[in-house]
Amino acid sequence: MSQVSQTIVPGLADVPVAESSVSFIDGKRARLEYRGIAVEALARESCFEETAYLLLKGDLPTQKQLADFDDLLRHRRRIKYRIVDLIKCLPETGHPMGALQAAVAAMGMFYPSKDVTNAQSNWDSVVRLIAKLPTVVAAFHRLRHGDAPINPRDDLDHAANFYWMLFEREPSPAVRKVLDACLVLHAEHTMNASTFSGRVTASTLADPYTVISSAIGTLTGPLHGGANEEVLEMLDKIGTIENVKPWLEKAVADKGKIMGLGHRVYKVKDPRATVLQELAEKVFSETSRPKTYDMAVELERIAAGLLGPKGIYPNVDFYSGIVYASLGIPRDLFTPIFAISRVAGWLAHWLEQLKGNKIFRPEIIYVGKQNVEYVPLAKRP
Ligand code: COA
Repeated sequence: MSQVSQTIVPGLADVPVAESSVSFIDGKRARLEYRGIAVEALARESCFEETAYLLLKGDLPTQKQLADFDDLLRHRRRIKYRIVDLIKCLPETGHPMGALQAAVAAMGMFYPSKDVTNAQSNWDSVVRLIAKLPTVVAAFHRLRHGDAPINPRDDLDHAANFYWMLFEREPSPAVRKVLDACLVLHAEHTMNASTFSGRVTASTLADPYTVISSAIGTLTGPLHGGANEEVLEMLDKIGTIENVKPWLEKAVADKGKIMGLGHRVYKVKDPRATVLQELAEKVFSETSRPKTYDMAVELERIAAGLLGPKGIYPNVDFYSGIVYASLGIPRDLFTPIFAISRVAGWLAHWLEQLKGNKIFRPEIIYVGKQNVEYVPLAKRP
């Protein structure tokens, strides 16, 4: 047995566990790149389908490659009626992330995907997973309210079709753009907890549906996917714009955590928050500008003085929940939307993990009892 280091790094913070060429963060320069391209450029000028292709393949697609990929996605959106039946059986009070995880795990029983050395089968799984996740989320959301699921439409792009399946109406161009940009901005973020969990599962050569369902499970935790919901709860508690300053001063004095602020890597404002805010302002000029947004802007302004010197600035979750809520999306769908987007990054990491794979098997430092004698039950009190 190899000699293990006796030093534990809690949370594996700053411990490299893989080489990757999928994305890059420079937390001091507010820089996030997908395959070398700045995420702001992608959010402003690209779309989710093209970004997913970039993450998966490593380079931007040609016009034909993108058209073919888009066509494949549009034609794989429908889910099997037995998956719909499965979703119908789930409690309507359950969290949509649970439904998504269960449905994705079940999908692996319907599609041949066990041979992860088969490049064609792997690509088919990639397309299916990206195409079908929005359909599953929308179907659960409709069914839990007693409504029939709305069929996907092949004539709409990824973001617009998701909106359609939720509300049975098409989004305006500004709403479509902001939703699409949210999908681009959440699609990948280096070695976060859910990506790591997906890569650990991938390292066992499990099928891709199992890999993605394990990543979805990891994303459900409030320390990972849920911060944007909590931002809205915090703003509800603050209540008014006038109360932002006293509330924040007290929270900082009490050493409370301000939701949507701070990041393990970014010590300046998260570049995703900057671009999202810019797009949100465009959409608010068309819809109505929510009170929560003005409160958040004020909170950011005051927090810059109070927490800025410690490198604590808005992260992507600070504004994303406000945007989703302004589109009429219920709070418990925020994390599933994160998953609908992040599945592209998870799958890019899955494909990367399969190249030169080694099963993850870290060490643990045993601190429990040893050499304890077994006492038969009859001799115990
Ligand atoms: N509000 C107030 N103080 C904060 C803070 C926040 N949102 N985030 C960090 N801090 C402070 C901590 O209190 C701590 O202060 P101290 O040195 O005086 O004890 C210091 O900054 C370091 O915090 P720590 O939690 O160790 O930093 P981290 O890098 O481990 O944490 C987060 C990063 C994201 C977990 C943390 O910033 C956080 O909990 N943010 C709020 C939740 C959130 O928005 N999560 C979404 C992330 S995308």
